[in-house]
Amino acid sequence: MPHTIIEPFRIKSIEPIRRTTRAEREAHLRAAEWNLFQVPADAVLIDLLTDSGTGAMSVQQWAGMMVGDESYAGSRSWPVFRDAVRDIFGYGHVIPTHQGRAAERILFSVMCKAGDIVPNNTHFDTTRANVEFVGARAVDLPCVEAADPAVSHPFKGNMDVAALDRLLSENRGRVPLVMLTVTNNSGGGQPVSLANATAVSETCHRHGVPLYFDACRFAENAWFIKQREPGYADHAPIDIARAMMALGDGCTMSAKKDGMANIGGFLCTNDDVLARQEENLLILTEGYPTYGGLAGRDLEAIAVGLHEALDEDYLAYRAASVAYLGDHISRAGVPIIQPPGGHAIYIDAKAFLPHVPPSALPGVALANALYLAGGIRSVEIGTLMFADAARMELVRLAVPRRVYTQSHIDYVVETILEVFAEREAIGGLRIVEAAPFLRHFTARLAPLETAR
Ligand code: F0G
Repeated sequence: MPHTIIEPFRIKSIEPIRRTTRAEREAHLRAAEWNLFQVPADAVLIDLLTDSGTGAMSVQQWAGMMVGDESYAGSRSWPVFRDAVRDIFGYGHVIPTHQGRAAERILFSVMCKAGDIVPNNTHFDTTRANVEFVGARAVDLPCVEAADPAVSHPFKGNMDVAALDRLLSENRGRVPLVMLTVTNNSGGGQPVSLANATAVSETCHRHGVPLYFDACRFAENAWFIKQREPGYADHAPIDIARAMMALGDGCTMSAKKDGMANIGGFLCTNDDVLARQEENLLILTEGYPTYGGLAGRDLEAIAVGLHEALDEDYLAYRAASVAYLGDHISRAGVPIIQPPGGHAIYIDAKAFLPHVPPSALPGVALANALYLAGGIRSVEIGTLMFADAARMELVRLAVPRRVYTQSHIDYVVETILEVFAEREAIGGLRIVEAAPFLRHFTARLAPLETAR
């Protein structure tokens, strides 16, 4: 039996992608004021900006789109969605939202007030922004192994449990909830072990504080547990996911990741009182509780996608294709967060461009160089995204689900290695103008040499 891990699907419908010339890309980047978010997607060849909402749906999901019931109240698609979510996540209340950040906004609006503290292994940017928007403080408590990008550890997404215990002891009454992000996106797409989640859960509950999962990539996290955590090799990913969620009191979810859908999300809780308040807010800003921020067809696509994300052949292929990218560039000397993450490879831009200081945005400089060299779009996770809270200067190459083939990835590897060979010629940038929240989306930038 051959050992090659293949894409466990065949392609039924294709979407052309377009090559551009270097001169065209230079013009696009200048027009975008050196911010890749502002470049039109048509001018991108391989788009690794995000794995969010960019996946390819299956025939079963498209079939679900056709049977979706668009009734305002009591849609037939609602129990299909609710039961699929409950089957995996197990929480009593399911609140559908248009995407993950809507679930976050509702959760933090209901649970937090000014002066509160919300710990997380590492907050994603929208999560941090939604915590701060209600006047609370977002505190990251990653495990010590997470600090060094080059150090390999099976569960680098873990939370520092001793630090959590200290924080909860010192801030009694000021921590309304603890969040645990699986996998830890901003920390390198690294998984959290069941042992760590159990310790976090016990610590939270000893202090009387509820634990919520940011469950965006729950299936990829379950796969890593199956591969790496002693005792779980024979467990099905769905059972591992269920065991993890059972440690919490609720979750937020972006169905644009492991929901395998192009839009959608949900908020879950076991707390009846909170659920009522959350539903009231849902009606105000998202929609009626049987559809939230979604069309009936989206509910159907997500109900199917959540289970497809837990398929073992799919997860084996998914992990193999991301690791393939990471291993090929890292073997050639490109510094990446080790080991490769579940949905993305993170290049250590500080080590890649040691001559560009954090204030000159090395991650943005590298992302722009990859675009100029090969039309590849990636995203900085560093000083532009997090300002002073940035712990590292990273460039994330996020792999959309079921979209690119191995030759696409080979092209990406080749482009990165070309840029690596000429890295000394890459200069930094400065910020011309930026918004107070989530500034990386809209910031206007300029190369440093033309600053004066
Ligand atoms: N939490 C995590 C860990 C995320 O990665 C994201 C989105 C969200 C919450 C918010 O979900 O986009 O549906 O509102 N991450 C995307 C990314 C945008 O590119 O990593 P959303």
